[in-house]
Amino acid sequence: METNEKHLIKAIKREAITRPPIWLMRQAGRYLPEYRKLRKQEKNFLKFCYTPDYAVEATLQPLNRFKLDAAILFSDILVLPDALGQNVEFQEGVGPLLEPIRNKKELERLTLDNIHKNLQNVYETVSILSKEIPKDTTLIGFAGAPWTVATYMVEGKGSKDCTTARTWAYQDPINFSKLIKILTDATSMYLIKQIEHGAEIVQIFDTWAGILSDSQFLDWVINPTKKIVNNIKKAHPNIPIIGFPRGAGIRYIDFIEKTNVDGVSLDNGVPIKWAAENIQTKCTVQGNLDNTVLIAGGKKMEEEIYSTLEGFENGSHIFNLGHGILPQTPPENVLKLVETIYNWKR
Ligand code: CP3
Repeated sequence: METNEKHLIKAIKREAITRPPIWLMRQAGRYLPEYRKLRKQEKNFLKFCYTPDYAVEATLQPLNRFKLDAAILFSDILVLPDALGQNVEFQEGVGPLLEPIRNKKELERLTLDNIHKNLQNVYETVSILSKEIPKDTTLIGFAGAPWTVATYMVEGKGSKDCTTARTWAYQDPINFSKLIKILTDATSMYLIKQIEHGAEIVQIFDTWAGILSDSQFLDWVINPTKKIVNNIKKAHPNIPIIGFPRGAGIRYIDFIEKTNVDGVSLDNGVPIKWAAENIQTKCTVQGNLDNTVLIAGGKKMEEEIYSTLEGFENGSHIFNLGHGILPQTPPENVLKLVETIYNWKR
């Protein structure tokens, strides 16, 4: 029996539906000319995120063009270290730069005391969005997972291998786990407030989960995520949670079983057939079209869209990419993708 719930909520609750809902990670951003124009009004990216007028408009821009099933709050995972008291900047052409935290003394710069005050404008953005989005669109809140946010806090910048953070975690697990604990508490508080302001689903982005060894994956990905899920479920048992331990491979199974998330976002390295047999039987899957095929477009893009749809047609599926939309993506390819999903029937 179908309920009256929104399409995306039905999919995450594993109800039977004819087509998968669709939204795209980083659906707002530089591939849209209207985003680039809006961004010119505020050069400081954090200030842009903290200005409800801009953040609301940036969130709504992709919805004005495409029939997406969800709006994702426009913000960034690095507002949390900023709210905890670390110095965070975004430099054009470089990316995020933070004053690194690598020992006990530097950990003292962080405090949970002011996070809600510092994030007040993000909560206001969520409130406004919950009133302004179309009635059948789902509002997604999000945060970075403790491990991924910690990598930026320790490295002081984006890093593909996170050597300093991984080494510190092995050398000084007592202090590294203090950092993870602060982030676990802050992330729980932050997501619960987003829910109280109108977020209907939350996603936890663990972009750098895949580079960890088994023991570190358990300590820094599974255990903190499990705590966050627990904290949220205690306060709001009916709000679905999507985890995205990017690059986790077969450890996606362990992640789902131990953290209790309602769904997982799959990166495009996960084989569809394997995921249909081993993941979709446990929870809703989201994903996992290669974000570069969306740049390429044409016949190949169509083939890849259909093989994703068909590969996941026997279970609950939210259509998405394997990682965020890239700035080079032609918006007309996104339009074509959304139309293809709408016209497809199981
Ligand atoms: O999905 C959405 O539309 C919502 C907005 C969103 C942004 N960042 C906006 C953004 C979300 C969900 C994120 C998450 C995020 N941010 C992650 C996790 C997901 C992923 O992509 O791996 C990470 C690791 C970050 C950290 C971050 N933010 C980096 C490394 C950078 C610089 C690289 C880049 O793409 O410029 C950002 C900046 C950022 N966050 C931009 C946007 C639209 C670009 C800023 C601009 O120049 O306008």
